[in-house]
Amino acid sequence: MLIRKSTDIRPSEITDQSAYMRRREFMYGAAALGMAAALPASAFAMPLSAIKSPLSTDETLTPLKDVTTYNNFYEFGTDKDDPSKNAHTLTTKPWKVKVDGLVNKPADYDLDDLIKSIALEERIYRMRCVEGWSMVIPWIGVPLASVLARIEPQGSAKYVAFETLVRPAEMPAQKGFFQPLPWPYVEGLRLDEAMHPLTILAVGLYGETLPKQNGAPIRLVVPWKYGFKSIKSVVRISLTEKEPKTSWSLQNPREYGFYSNVNPAVDHPRWSQATERRIGASGGGLGGLFAKRHPTLPFNGYGDQVASLYTGMDLKKYY
Ligand code: MTE
Repeated sequence: MLIRKSTDIRPSEITDQSAYMRRREFMYGAAALGMAAALPASAFAMPLSAIKSPLSTDETLTPLKDVTTYNNFYEFGTDKDDPSKNAHTLTTKPWKVKVDGLVNKPADYDLDDLIKSIALEERIYRMRCVEGWSMVIPWIGVPLASVLARIEPQGSAKYVAFETLVRPAEMPAQKGFFQPLPWPYVEGLRLDEAMHPLTILAVGLYGETLPKQNGAPIRLVVPWKYGFKSIKSVVRISLTEKEPKTSWSLQNPREYGFYSNVNPAVDHPRWSQATERRIGASGGGLGGLFAKRHPTLPFNGYGDQVASLYTGMDLKKYY
């Protein structure tokens, strides 16, 4: 009875929280009975079963439609709807992730093998973009720390550098006349930030594998930092001694720093960070363009967990 009802809800039809929650209950039930593999899959997405994490927020989820059509993924264009229109060209299977640098056990992971070997968790996180909007997204992923533990960082490793795929044949903005960023898209974290339990590598959202526009097949998610730190379609993770370069600070060092912690007290030169607008929240069409703005919290509300990482640091200087 339960099974028939739940499988009637196709992934593409999940646009609101209650439908997702109904399907989610089913997913966990199915996983427990070992039936997850029997679920229907849409063209690109596959169901994933995951355990619920206590590190989730209980705020209202942003509708799937907004999560998958209002995106930044400059390899596919600079408009918010470019990634959902263009990212279908990306081949995500097979996918290798190279982990190297200052580690004892460098590895070339096949993503499917990696996913099978670590328990997936669902983490519902608030996400805050530097442009002043926010979302609440049910990610599925693994703690980055559990991957780093396997490759054994050496004592001299102080940072983790991340790199996105370069494949102009499938990423139109990498071959166009106008190149919005230098490629590959690169990001970095301090090792203690990377090891923090809130930092995950996401392989899915809303109960399924990641849509391509959201960074399939694997992306970083760091919820207390502005969204641009959460690099998509990762192919390389390297442990380094020096602070890694990051795409946005390479492009505009005055506007973007390495740390990029959500901080309502430090404005971006073009956007106030004091308040934010929740995408998809009530307040009219155009992705909630007229939705009421509400105050942004230090570290995006994750201060209790992460503020101690920055004790004694001047966060105006290290923005
Ligand atoms: N990763 C890559 N490779 N390329 C990008 O352009 N954009 C970043 C980040 N990761 C980006 C990226 C920015 S600016 C944001 S706000 C988030 O992805 C958006 O993630 P979302 O589209 O899943 O909400």
